[in-house]
Amino acid sequence: MNQAKIAMIGLGVMGKSMVLNLLDRGFNVAGYDINLDNRNRANQEAKSLAKLHGKGLFVTLGSLTQLLASLETPRIIALSVPAGEVVDSVIEELIEAGLEAQDIVIDTGNSLWTDSERRERQYQGKLRFFSTAVSGGEVGARIGPSLMASGDESAWQYVKPFWLAIAAKVDSQGMPVGQFEQGEPCAAYLGPAGAGHYVKMVHNGIEYADMQLICEAYHFMSEVLQLTPVQIGQVFSRWNQGALNSYLMEISAEILQASDPVSGKPFVDVVLDKAEQKGTGLWSSVNALQMGVPAPTIAQAVFARAQSGQKAMRLRAARAFKQQRNHADNIDLETALSNLHDTLFCAKLTVYAQGFDLMKTTSDTEGWALDFANIAKIWRAGCIIRANFLQDITQAYEANPELENLLLAERFIEQIELKSSGWRASTVQAVLHGVPMPAVTSTLSYFDSLCCEVLPANLLQAQRDYFGAHSYSRVDDIEQHRYHLTWSDEKIIQVRV
Ligand code: 6PG
Repeated sequence: MNQAKIAMIGLGVMGKSMVLNLLDRGFNVAGYDINLDNRNRANQEAKSLAKLHGKGLFVTLGSLTQLLASLETPRIIALSVPAGEVVDSVIEELIEAGLEAQDIVIDTGNSLWTDSERRERQYQGKLRFFSTAVSGGEVGARIGPSLMASGDESAWQYVKPFWLAIAAKVDSQGMPVGQFEQGEPCAAYLGPAGAGHYVKMVHNGIEYADMQLICEAYHFMSEVLQLTPVQIGQVFSRWNQGALNSYLMEISAEILQASDPVSGKPFVDVVLDKAEQKGTGLWSSVNALQMGVPAPTIAQAVFARAQSGQKAMRLRAARAFKQQRNHADNIDLETALSNLHDTLFCAKLTVYAQGFDLMKTTSDTEGWALDFANIAKIWRAGCIIRANFLQDITQAYEANPELENLLLAERFIEQIELKSSGWRASTVQAVLHGVPMPAVTSTLSYFDSLCCEVLPANLLQAQRDYFGAHSYSRVDDIEQHRYHLTWSDEKIIQVRV
């Protein structure tokens, strides 16, 4: 074939799907994978696609040297390999195979953002290192993912045409459009080195929290309101038509209404309640702790997965504390559901507020100047947390790029004022009936803390000063000097430190 425009190294699920997506858009692609099965599978699927539309050409090569020879210059090579050491070893092999300083290597895996920063420094002068975080899973990669690009800015002009072509698209109202329809692409250059992977990490933190909130609403409906999975699925399906419209709500509605093909029982009832994780939620939580940014719901979602994993201990505790859970009588179903709807809306918005606050703080520290309207924009389609109200978030940041906290945007203040009583009512009901809602309750506490003029941190500072002479500031000292109080039997004395 003519020289390939772009290469993909790693033809597993994500790499192969992105290759097929590139072929759909008419690009000639070269592929490489050390695994022969992966190569064969990619070849076969590319052949079937060629029979369908015959647009792009695909060739797999047997060595990295051949792969480099098959590409136009500057060579553009995307990696879809496991995050971590493999990324570095493939890059080293590419350098040995003859990669040149102008060539571009794009890491599309779920890499740790600090690794991307390190790689940009490490490979300077040897190649142009670029990263692009991909969200949307296998289907997204195949028909339109959300793409968060960052790295060497001079590489973006070369990478851009590919990413804009294969990304998911939205219409002028911010709604996702079909695979081959025209629209605004959900792909953007977000900043230097680690920015793209950082934004994706926070995306995943929000994803963890949003999933946990939906799971807690399901649990509440099942335990407190005694609804069946199918009934809960129908409620979710109805909610998905309105303000709660999102991909995660849509798939939850579908899952809850499905039957297990083996037993015929509701499918969710046969799935073991032990959640697993690959680590991006943990990374977000650790980062929030390190940055001193309150993102309790993201951390809570990680803890909830951890606690679900302690199944044997939970079974013993459930037997030991029999009185803790009771079903509710005399609950008005319509009111309870309406409250729960509002709970999800407020909590979900608050989770996004935590995520954007985290990004804002890191962006300021790293000097990235992240554009939050742009980030909300490229999350409107293709990614796992795509949701109708990302259009509202986009507009909130367009109206005020310096927005201190998402919850302080005019449009959201009004909506939360309207819906927060339902949020409190569901939380109280869950607590009274012993149904755990860790993400919902911690989100409400975050909100209440946010709106609290005086927090009990005054007592906390006094405690720290008491036992450790850590000093405190006074509310009546505008110059903010530091003081220490010495305690003795006779009297207490304040000194300026
Ligand atoms: C995405 C997803 C994707 C992956 C998660 C799953 O945006 O496409 O977030 O990256 O599905 O990493 O994470 P856990 O296995 O940790 O739940």
